[in-house]
Amino acid sequence: MILIIDFGSQYNQLIARRVRECHVYCEIEPPDISMAAVRSLNPEGIILSGGPSSIYGENAAKADPAIFDMGIPVLGICYGMHFMIDALGGTVRGAGKREYGFAELHVSQPDGLFKGMDSTPSCWMSHGDSTEKLPDGFEVTASTENTDAAAIVHRGKNFHGLQFHPEVEHTPQGRTMMKNFLFEVCGCRPGWTMSAFAQDAISRIRNTVKEKQVILGLSGGVDSSVTALLLHKAIGKNLTCIFVDNGLLRKDEGKKLEKTLTRHLDINIRFVDASEKFLSALVQVTDPEKKRKIIGKIFMDVFEEEAGKMTDAEFLAQGTLYPDIIESISPFGGPSAVIKSHHNVGGLPEKMKLRLVEPLKYLFKDEVRLLGEEIGLDEELVWRQPFPGPGLAIRIIGEITKERLTILREVDAVLLEEIKNNGHYRKLWQSFAVLLPIKSVGIMGDQRTYENIAAIRAVTSTDAMTADWARLPHQLLADISNRIINEVRGVNRVVYDISSKPPSTIEWE
Ligand code: XMP
Repeated sequence: MILIIDFGSQYNQLIARRVRECHVYCEIEPPDISMAAVRSLNPEGIILSGGPSSIYGENAAKADPAIFDMGIPVLGICYGMHFMIDALGGTVRGAGKREYGFAELHVSQPDGLFKGMDSTPSCWMSHGDSTEKLPDGFEVTASTENTDAAAIVHRGKNFHGLQFHPEVEHTPQGRTMMKNFLFEVCGCRPGWTMSAFAQDAISRIRNTVKEKQVILGLSGGVDSSVTALLLHKAIGKNLTCIFVDNGLLRKDEGKKLEKTLTRHLDINIRFVDASEKFLSALVQVTDPEKKRKIIGKIFMDVFEEEAGKMTDAEFLAQGTLYPDIIESISPFGGPSAVIKSHHNVGGLPEKMKLRLVEPLKYLFKDEVRLLGEEIGLDEELVWRQPFPGPGLAIRIIGEITKERLTILREVDAVLLEEIKNNGHYRKLWQSFAVLLPIKSVGIMGDQRTYENIAAIRAVTSTDAMTADWARLPHQLLADISNRIINEVRGVNRVVYDISSKPPSTIEWE
């Protein structure tokens, strides 16, 4: 495995992605990881990530310099390289000019990380500081117009430093450099595959859980569905899933999930219809945050009540993903833990003395999808677009009524059918409809109408932190609009949302 030490770079997860794409397992740890923990991971190499600080700045993150005595290769990227230089006796200075963007790299020594590459590849720079004096034993292997030491190496110790970012797409040959580090420098083998991960995860679950009962909150999303199937494969009927119908789901959502998971895969699921509880608490509530709070609180109560009936349960399984873990352990924090807070059944583990099982906690979202495919999860669940915990409540702007829920369900069903039939579903991060709280005038046949407006939102994104509105073909938009207005009673106008995130958000509320 490869250990990545996270100095707070916005790109640290990308480094992990690049390593795993090469079928080499890696983990990201904060700089204060103890040497005992580092040794127990038994890494074949260490990557030091970039970071926002200057190495001599106040609160500059530092790792234990004993990592340089382990006798294994180290790759320092940007701040990671500065940390290495500082720790080994060199110095770094504030660059005269901040270098940001593309730069042409002049490779003077085309071996090591640069093996098999052009001599002048372009690279992506994003730094203020740069090398002033190299530590003993280091030499420069590539430079750019602004930066003499764009790449450095200590051949005897196998320490490498890159001032630019090989992990970003803007460094076109970055993947080759990463591969060279993994396979040529560290001598890793590409043995980490989804099939190996699945077998390992199943046996680990069996060893941990043994004959005990496990509870899982199932939302129908890919994370909880993959977790359910993985646990089912490991412990069969000792897993009980709880699915809470909050009355805010899309058309036939609960039924479809029941068909796929209960009938086809024989997984134990308790369906709890709590829709009346949720809908009555939401009467006349229009404030988005209030909606979220009410839904979150009732979900917790309902889930806890149902879970409380399983007095012999000892474990709670959750589909926590790696980005949540990284951001919650990262000294630099991150917003996704907050976004997900509605899904986390917060106090339950302590209250019921449950232990957590989180088999996906080292995976990224697209790896979860690969795992889902590997273990035979239904394609529709594997590729389901994310759907927020508060469901349609935050897509009905203003008051939520049963009538408005029905209208939005029908609109959304038409939209998704068109998007799927035209091959766009998997290309989009999300595509959904929003019901607006205003009416507009229209004409149908010879009749004047005064009805609802539906907005269509379709976005591309890789992580929901940023998103762009999808440039769907005009003909598809025309077909969607025609079908909605003709087929859904109560809607006479359709608009398309052309805002990106930021400054807008993906959801409207
Ligand atoms: P925004 O609207 O903040 O959404 O750009 C980012 C992503 O998070 C989802 N989302 C939620 N998911 N509970 C959830 O489980 C929520 O309260 C919630 N709000 C937004 C949203 O669908 C998008 O994928």
